[in-house]
Amino acid sequence: MCGIAGYIGKQQAAPIILDGLSKLEYRGYDSAGIAVFDGQKIHMEKAVGRLRVLDEKINHGALLPGFCGIGHTRWATHGCPSDTNAHPHMNEEHTIAVVHNGIIENYEKLKQRLEKKGYRFVSETDTEVLAHMLTEYYRGDPVEAIEKVMHRVEGSYALGIMFLDHPHHIYAARKDSPLIVGINDTGKFIASDVPAILQYTRTVYYVENEEIVCLSNEHTRFCNIDGEPIEKQPVTIDWDIHAAEKGGYEHFMLKEIHEQPKAVRDTISPRIHENEIDLGEIGMTDEEIKNLRKISIVACGSAYHTGAAGKYVIEELTRIPVETDLASEFRYRNPIYQENSLVIIVSQSGETADSLAALRDAKAHGCKVLSIVNVVGSSIARESDAVLYTWAGPEISVATTKAYSCQLAVFYLLALKFAQIRSAITPDTFQTLLTALKQLPDQIEGLLSQKEKIQFFANHYLATEHIFFMGRGIDYAISMEGSLKLKEISYIHSEAYAAGELKHGTISLMEEGTLVVALATQDALYPKTVSNMIEVKTRGAFVMALSTKKHPDIEKYADYVLYIPETQNLFAGSLAIIPLQLFAYYVSLGRGLDVDKPRNLAKSVTVE
Ligand code: F6R
Repeated sequence: MCGIAGYIGKQQAAPIILDGLSKLEYRGYDSAGIAVFDGQKIHMEKAVGRLRVLDEKINHGALLPGFCGIGHTRWATHGCPSDTNAHPHMNEEHTIAVVHNGIIENYEKLKQRLEKKGYRFVSETDTEVLAHMLTEYYRGDPVEAIEKVMHRVEGSYALGIMFLDHPHHIYAARKDSPLIVGINDTGKFIASDVPAILQYTRTVYYVENEEIVCLSNEHTRFCNIDGEPIEKQPVTIDWDIHAAEKGGYEHFMLKEIHEQPKAVRDTISPRIHENEIDLGEIGMTDEEIKNLRKISIVACGSAYHTGAAGKYVIEELTRIPVETDLASEFRYRNPIYQENSLVIIVSQSGETADSLAALRDAKAHGCKVLSIVNVVGSSIARESDAVLYTWAGPEISVATTKAYSCQLAVFYLLALKFAQIRSAITPDTFQTLLTALKQLPDQIEGLLSQKEKIQFFANHYLATEHIFFMGRGIDYAISMEGSLKLKEISYIHSEAYAAGELKHGTISLMEEGTLVVALATQDALYPKTVSNMIEVKTRGAFVMALSTKKHPDIEKYADYVLYIPETQNLFAGSLAIIPLQLFAYYVSLGRGLDVDKPRNLAKSVTVE
């Protein structure tokens, strides 16, 4: 949700900032802007539309020479996408420039006060108050002015700031929005996320909440909101530089779909030793695990969907009651926390505002919080009591695929481990399930080779207006993800239903030719799902079914069948989701849409 990037050093700043923003475009892409200090003045250029519009406008940076600058790629919150609302925002004198990711919640009050004092606003953004407030408090010391602003604003922010009076300096600050600082031999960087600077450095400082940064050629300084210096150690990022490139694929989404076998393998293999699962990272004693009375899984979007599947798996194997909640609901519903319970927050980015707020609420109530996170060092990872990382590597496409699959795999590990410790399953069952788990990466690989078949099918549905997904149990949880994947990148209206629920209202929408994607991978529920398929087919629906070769009779009830390899029922979701991801991808591709950057979305939702 908005990306910021900045550079100060010995090289031209604009091309480096544009390059950084291109890696952050997944965070927002409705407009972009850049400000560069040329030795005398701060020059600013902005453009509504994708980053390439700005890039062309400034001739790839050549029209904005200078060694120090800040840039922004925007996902609009306050004020529509326009040149004026794009960042950076400057004060009237053009002596201070600000880029901002986050939301200033009390901006209206602040704006009214500033307007009364004669400050003139040109944009509809919340960010512009920051430029004026900095002007108001600036008495020659940028850090002091930033501190004063931070004491007065409410909300979330990662800021990049330049002061004309302090050329060759970049200032930055953060609260509840991600911000990192990178350094190399030729310069220093600020960015919202690691991919923006990976090409230039792997030496990174994570900026914590309410910290201020001052970067110049000579120094890298950190202080707190009261100006007290902070000593920080850099960390070395070991991401593969090619991880943030398309690597020959037409889209990041397709690349990331293909990376799933490796991502799932990388996530489970280091945690399985000699047929035992080692989850030392969760920092819980066997006693604590045995005493668990309840687990709450809290997340948003696709991460919530993995929690929906995780609930079935954990309950089935451990018999611990699990509730799965949308973070945006959980945080405001005054949830009942009880002793011996565990809250699990699931998040790819580790920055999702609602999930982070849910985490803080749980901790404030004394609950232990375990998170399942992909981005190392992200806010959710750092604030949790323990983290189980999904080793998916950087996920760039807005629609998640590989992180989703890794989250599912982590739930399987967790469920198996808890079940073993609680003696809820026999050692034989444990081994059978573990063997099945270890086979998943190869089975996913096998499914990917069926992609032409899925593309062929998808091409018949490019003009469809509505698609329904249905399933029971885990199949229902996977249907929700299949439906979300499709709608978010193809803009086709789609809904997921618990198959048994259709007849309670939604079946009235079935008409001749309506496409229903039916998941029937769960043996015990198979006859029930088949009955529901018959019900919709009788009303004219065209049924595309997903099942296993154990159920060849499905061909009698469906118009088109895709088979997934046989696995343990509890893990079938990891295989069933692959054709659904490919289906969504090929429908979006066939409709000529921007697969990786669907309209109105951003990858990291740092506003509530
Ligand atoms: C959909 C998608 C979103 C995210 C959701 C949570 O493809 O990616 O629904 O799952 O915004 O994001 P994280 O996992 O970063 O907390």
